[in-house]
Amino acid sequence: MIENNIITGFSKLSKDEKLELLASRLGLSPEAMNSLRSFWHSDAEVQKTLDEFSENTITNYFFPYGVAPNVVINGKVYMVPMVIEESSVIAAASNGAKYWASKGGFHSEVLSTVKIGQVHFIWKGNFEELQSHFPKMRKLLLDRTAAITANMERRGGGVLAMELLDKTDALDHYYQLSVKFDTRDSMGANFINSCLEEYAAGLREYVNESGWFEGEPLQVIMSILSNYTPECTVKTWVECDVKDFGDIDSSMSGEEFARKFEKAVQIATVDVYRAATHNKGIFNGIDAVALATGNDFRAIEACGHAWAARNGKYSSLTEVSIENGRFHYSLTLPIALGTVGGLTSLHPMAKFSLEMLGNPQAPELMQIASAVGLANNFGALRSLTTKGIQIGHMKMHLLNILNTYGADDREKVLAVEYFRDHKVSYNSVAAFLASLRNGQVIN
Ligand code: MEV
Repeated sequence: MIENNIITGFSKLSKDEKLELLASRLGLSPEAMNSLRSFWHSDAEVQKTLDEFSENTITNYFFPYGVAPNVVINGKVYMVPMVIEESSVIAAASNGAKYWASKGGFHSEVLSTVKIGQVHFIWKGNFEELQSHFPKMRKLLLDRTAAITANMERRGGGVLAMELLDKTDALDHYYQLSVKFDTRDSMGANFINSCLEEYAAGLREYVNESGWFEGEPLQVIMSILSNYTPECTVKTWVECDVKDFGDIDSSMSGEEFARKFEKAVQIATVDVYRAATHNKGIFNGIDAVALATGNDFRAIEACGHAWAARNGKYSSLTEVSIENGRFHYSLTLPIALGTVGGLTSLHPMAKFSLEMLGNPQAPELMQIASAVGLANNFGALRSLTTKGIQIGHMKMHLLNILNTYGADDREKVLAVEYFRDHKVSYNSVAAFLASLRNGQVIN
């Protein structure tokens, strides 16, 4: 039965043929087909570029593209592009950035930009013997990638270090060739992986084919970059006197707010359930900048969460200290971002985003993304520790709810006015629309 439903050769069909097949399988109406086609880009060249990013493309999936203005980092003002579907994220980033702009803005420092790649292999011979060959082998391996690395070296990057690691404590006969790279302004995945595949071939050849060793052959399991980049790290922070928080919430003093905020970060430091949500809010901002600039947000998230668990317990990515009345609040994390290569120049909107940021180099983009992450964390904790998250969130969500109930423009205007001082929920919006549609007067 299932076999009859298996489609073969789908990828070889044209886009129209793919759509036709989909329509016949799913019973799509001509209107549904037109709706799918309506998301195609009007410029066929642009559409072709988009189609070629991926496989089996049938249409585009739109996300809102917004801007957080007033992001001040090390004295420079940025308008930061953000792509995200969740309401409130850009508002929180913008509010947080504006708030700190009046207090000196964000300070940020890139601590390092090194990336790692690994050849994982199984070796049943004597490790010391293999190690004794390593100086000679390393030279041969590096020679193999000379053509690939020459270009990167011209840009100031390349291979920084290569070592053999004994991992047999963790897994029988398991070793690694661990290589450190500087990929300059590119994210560098293709560069690193191409080098690693060469090193793997060279390693196999050296050990299995050059005749110095006669035991069981060395077996390469895989060669791939690591998305965990603890040496590609940025630290971003803000600071002020606690008394400067005096106007932040009418129900508490600046000192009380600072202490409550500090407690909220401490809770995310000790409790994994809270830490995951706390860090998710930071990645709301970072991912949105990564998406807008054509970067790989999955890699960035995987790295950030691994880093958050680096001490053996998943914990908060931000830290707060209050000393002598001074509030210091920071975010330190690895973010491997690129500003050249990949989608950064191919995707028209990614290209535009980078232009909007003044075509930064990768370290500057690390600072921008982390500042937005910190702004989002500040915005979330500020709401959570004062009036709660739902007032602002549901206000932002109001339009989504109105659209769900098919509200027209007039109803939307009236709803926005009404819900300025009424609590937003699905029920309250449904009741409001029902009254409006029944001709009742609503106050
Ligand atoms: C929602 O997307 C993010 C928050 O839950 C983050 C947080 O709780 O810190 C508001």
